[in-house]
Amino acid sequence: MKESLPKGSGDSVIKFGVIGYGYWGPNVVRNLDQLDGSEVLAVCDKSHAAQKKVHKAYPHIKVTSETAELMTSTEIDAIAVVTPVWTHYELTKAALENGKHVFVEKPFTSCSAQAEELINLAAKKNLKIMVDHTFLFTGAVKKISQLLEEGTLGNIYYYDSTRVNLGLFQHDVNVVWDLAPHDLSIIDHLIKESPEAVVATGETHLNSHEDIAFITIYFPNKIIAHINVNWLSPVKVRTTLIGCEKKMLVWNDLAADEKIKVYDKGVNITSREGLYNLLVNYRSGDMWAPQVEQIEALHHELAYFVECITKDKTPMNDGKAGLRVVKMLEAASESLRQRGALVQL
Ligand SMILES: NC(=O)c1ccc[n+]([C@@H]2O[C@H](COP(=O)([O-])OP(=O)(O)OC[C@H]3O[C@@H](n4cnc5c(N)ncnc54)[C@H](O)[C@@H]3O)[C@@H](O)[C@H]2O)c1
Repeated sequence: MKESLPKGSGDSVIKFGVIGYGYWGPNVVRNLDQLDGSEVLAVCDKSHAAQKKVHKAYPHIKVTSETAELMTSTEIDAIAVVTPVWTHYELTKAALENGKHVFVEKPFTSCSAQAEELINLAAKKNLKIMVDHTFLFTGAVKKISQLLEEGTLGNIYYYDSTRVNLGLFQHDVNVVWDLAPHDLSIIDHLIKESPEAVVATGETHLNSHEDIAFITIYFPNKIIAHINVNWLSPVKVRTTLIGCEKKMLVWNDLAADEKIKVYDKGVNITSREGLYNLLVNYRSGDMWAPQVEQIEALHHELAYFVECITKDKTPMNDGKAGLRVVKMLEAASESLRQRGALVQL
């Protein structure tokens, strides 16, 4: 093993310890196991049932219930934290203190103060943090980002997303902290402006956590984002409208193909003699469905994390990106508490 090398250099394989083998952990372990540049040395989960599953699927991987075994291992370079959000801070901090790079699930932490502390600690120790903003690595988001950057869509007016399904109810977080991080990380990536204010409304029907919420985010230049998240929907919907100056886009993430449709539609308004004499021009042209890459996003993301470590690059979804998302979540929570008050960021 390469203990003498500064973590993050050389061409060797990055050795991982993974904490948490519940719903999402198996995806992280499978992808790390398949990548050329990484190897999973150990998986830690408190649950006996989860430990048995790891044993069965990966007899060569060490299984433990003690996080300390991973943290203090001289062989492990990086830790993946795939546990509920309230554990992220403590586990990430321990990993950084023990000289490990960290891949941590979304949302990064339960509050921005924790995120800031971890960012500073990682910087001091010259270690990488990557927050699992999986959607940034999907073919759909990569394509939308490309269409925006090359100017095909024109300036963005709005991002309007519906992310609803029945369940999975979480015990520790509301629907905002569970589902909205996906859209917030996408918005953070696509909209090159800092959010100004957040308004959120929602309701708690079954326990003390909101199971439905509507979040509005205001940006400079009249850009607005709206996210509808709901655990009480009879059907699963993952549809996002992105309205821009030149084109309008519909992204249906559940579509097997043609996930993205770009419409050459728009409105031009001109006024000759003040507000009462508006000339409204609707433009309705062709629709096209650009090719979208189909490879598993998590595979790309973990390969990128390994590359960031070995080539000493700062990930685009680093701790700072995680913090920006947590700040929007905090503002949404505050607004929810005040039944839709405008909360400045
Ligand atoms: N990126 C994505 O698309 C995506 C999808 C689902 C979940 N997630 C995130 O992944 C994280 C985990 O979610 P999940 O749905 O897999 O949760 P889960 O409850 O199904 O699994 C968590 C596992 O962690 C174990 N665990 C908890 N605390 C531990 C500790 N201190 N030490 C060892 N083991 C511990 C539990 O025993 C459990 O097996 C959450 O942050 C969630 O937001 C991300």
